[in-house]
Amino acid sequence: MEKTFVLVKPGAVARGLVGEVVRRFERRGFRVRAMKMLQVDRDLAAEHYAEHREKDFFGELVGSITSGPVVAFVLEGPEAIAAVRKMMGSTNPLAAEPGTIRGDLATEIVANIVHGSDGAESARREINLYFSEGEIV
Ligand code: RTP
Ligand code: MG
Repeated sequence: MEKTFVLVKPGAVARGLVGEVVRRFERRGFRVRAMKMLQVDRDLAAEHYAEHREKDFFGELVGSITSGPVVAFVLEGPEAIAAVRKMMGSTNPLAAEPGTIRGDLATEIVANIVHGSDGAESARREINLYFSEGEIV
């Protein structure tokens, strides 16, 4: 069993897509181990996206993830990290396969519905960034 961190981005929360996103993962067989709605502030956004600090889209990225409430959760299941990434689809929704979350629900790269950890190290880091130990069941 493996745990991964997933976040429904503000645009998708505003569109009422929280249930749609969670539903897909639950139906696949992944279990929610923690979940919360929160407003990401600029410090948390910068920490979350630290790997992109030097990118030209960093400002836009921080502006986007802080633009409204997000829903963050921890999913657990077999090979959860890779499986969740596959279900999300390519970063650019226009390149994402139909049947994936981004391929079915988005057209814009910054408003691409969902974030998911891209490896074991980032999963650990992001789970700990958003959740305390007692919040994970
Ligand atoms: P994420 O971290 O959100 O799960 O997405 P990802 O791994 O598929 O993509 P990543 O390269 O980590 O980029 C993080 C987020 O930055 C936005 N982005 N904008 N304007 C651009 O060229 C650009 N490139 C990336 C996307 O919202 C992406 O999810
Ligand atoms: Mg990423």
